[in-house]
Amino acid sequence: MAGIALVTGAGRGIGAGIARRLAADGFDLALVDLTPDGVEAVAEELRSTGRRAAAFTADVSDRDAVFGVVSSCVEELGGLDVMVNNAGVALVGPVSDVTPEELRRLFSVNVDGVLWGIQAAAASFIDRGVRGKIVNASSIAGHEGFAMLGAYSATKFAVRAFTQAAAKEYATHGITVNAYCPGVVGTDMWVEIDQRFADLTGAAVGETYEKFVGGIALGRAQTPEDVAAFVSHLAGPDSDYMTGQAVLIDGGLVYR
Ligand SMILES: NC(=O)c1ccc[n+]([C@@H]2O[C@H](COP(=O)([O-])OP(=O)(O)OC[C@H]3O[C@@H](n4cnc5c(N)ncnc54)[C@H](O)[C@@H]3O)[C@@H](O)[C@H]2O)c1
Repeated sequence: MAGIALVTGAGRGIGAGIARRLAADGFDLALVDLTPDGVEAVAEELRSTGRRAAAFTADVSDRDAVFGVVSSCVEELGGLDVMVNNAGVALVGPVSDVTPEELRRLFSVNVDGVLWGIQAAAASFIDRGVRGKIVNASSIAGHEGFAMLGAYSATKFAVRAFTQAAAKEYATHGITVNAYCPGVVGTDMWVEIDQRFADLTGAAVGETYEKFVGGIALGRAQTPEDVAAFVSHLAGPDSDYMTGQAVLIDGGLVYR
């Protein structure tokens, strides 16, 4: 039955992986990112497989922009059934050094951006009488505060809070709200995290990533496809009776 899905941060990494998987599941896609190049390329790739795909440029920290892309998605693709609030950024540094500007910027993308996505999607679902699904990006860092990743962890705990509260508030409309919590996924985000650890702690480049991957029970780093397989479940009918959950999908790293 599929439908139409919007994925933020879809220009690369996990978001691009989710877009590809949902397209393979039969969804048409609206792809959103800060800059056009990545989303245009992914949209073109999906169109070549026979799916409809539209690319949009927007900053998820801008509430009006998020409501704008949801409206554009409904206009251009004819609806919206699944909203994936995937866009996020990292910040590496000790708790003692986090500045007000860094904290605000981080929260504006990882928390405000998810909240605007929840609001815009839910308003659109209710307006059109759609029993839609909202899927948010949390993290292992949303279940455990990691050293040097304290501010980032705080944003991902906040995503769980909004996921739970929104699930309770929108349940009467038949809207579900869940989150995925990946572990160590080998994307550009981890290249940046690893480099920053190297700059701050003197670790060799690659060492921090290897250390984190070494703690994974299943013995390998996670791929965007591993994450996308679970998002596929959250976006599809098999998760209809599930809401308010933030599920760890990390190869065995954080246990709750
Ligand atoms: N990589 C991991 O190990 C990991 C683990 C757990 C959770 N996550 C979360 O998964 C999500 C995706 O991570 P990733 O590894 O693919 O990251 P990434 O940095 O590789 O890709 C993120 C994408 O989001 C876009 N983006 C950033 N800020 C944006 C904004 N303000 N508006 C619109 N788009 C924006 C970027 O341009 C980029 O294309 C993030 O929320 C991240 O916190 C990642």
